[in-house]
Amino acid sequence: MTDSLRTTAERVERATLGELRDVHIDDVYVQMDYLLQARPTPLDLYNRWEDQNWSTQKLDFSEDRAHWEGLALGLEGVRTELQQTFTLFFIGEQAVTDTLSPLVHAAPDEPSRIFLSTQLVDEARHSVFFSRFFKEVVGIEGGLPEALASLRDRTVDAFRVIFDADLVEATERVRKNPHDYGAWVEGITIYHLVVEGMLALTGQKYLLGLIREMGILPGFYTGFTAVARDESRHVNFGVRALMEAGVRDRSNLERVESTIFRLLEAACRIVAAPDRRYAIAPEDTPPNLLINPYEVRTFSLVSLTKRLRTLGLTSQACDEISKRGNLFYENAWNEYEDIHGEEHPRRFFDRFAPAAT
Ligand SMILES: [Fe+2]
Ligand SMILES: [Fe+2]
Repeated sequence: MTDSLRTTAERVERATLGELRDVHIDDVYVQMDYLLQARPTPLDLYNRWEDQNWSTQKLDFSEDRAHWEGLALGLEGVRTELQQTFTLFFIGEQAVTDTLSPLVHAAPDEPSRIFLSTQLVDEARHSVFFSRFFKEVVGIEGGLPEALASLRDRTVDAFRVIFDADLVEATERVRKNPHDYGAWVEGITIYHLVVEGMLALTGQKYLLGLIREMGILPGFYTGFTAVARDESRHVNFGVRALMEAGVRDRSNLERVESTIFRLLEAACRIVAAPDRRYAIAPEDTPPNLLINPYEVRTFSLVSLTKRLRTLGLTSQACDEISKRGNLFYENAWNEYEDIHGEEHPRRFFDRFAPAAT
């Protein structure tokens, strides 16, 4: 890592909540890669948690509310797209808050249990962050349970496959068999590698990038950048835990690999979301707010495979994951056109940048 990247990583590490308002998400990912190379122990990550603690109550959403209402004038489609993404994150944060405790209880050593205890607090804080944002900015009244109940059916099909089924079943197996280390390895793979290391990192990057480009929602931007920095610790804990699992017994890596292959299609379909129609066509979107589906696809798959490589999966397995992942996206985009009877936005990018395909 060059000196300038190290300086960036250290700036993100030390930023206060107020300073996070000016931090770019790509810099948070530089810091995340720095941790990936440094392979911090669970107790190193615990120490970071003490230093990087933040409070949802310190965020000011008053400007956000005005910005959100202003979006209704002329940028309603962008507002709908944003709200759909906020909703997936809100439901996702609640789902991971509710499923983490078996992984804490069954952790194979005390440092891991200590770190995972901090993560449990983080996930609860992320849920509270979203519930405040939905109440004070988006205007969904009621407390946390009411907001979640009114939003739960607004997810997408594949989201339910992972968040309502696989994640719940895997962590439930850990709860029933806390001494089954293989079940814990599978739980960490789904939770820390697929849900956080692929899905959350991809969503965060494009959501924060869009909001920064629009120059709106400073309270949300600040809080969600703090969420992203929390995720950096979580994901790096998962990589280290699975790396150690592979050192203990190579068969644990086979379990990681088979879990990834089992969930890869659903994970790609959560990002591609073929059942959800875009609220605004690329032709009607301001050019600086366009998001290229090919870039999103590449980012999500690289995000997953670079961590899998680091923790010990073979290059051959990682290449196969990328190859299949690309096809799953392709299939989902074609399905989008069948379901909605209109072209998928990737065609727009094909016309202007055929090399992207
Ligand atoms: Fe979270
Ligand atoms: Fe997390």
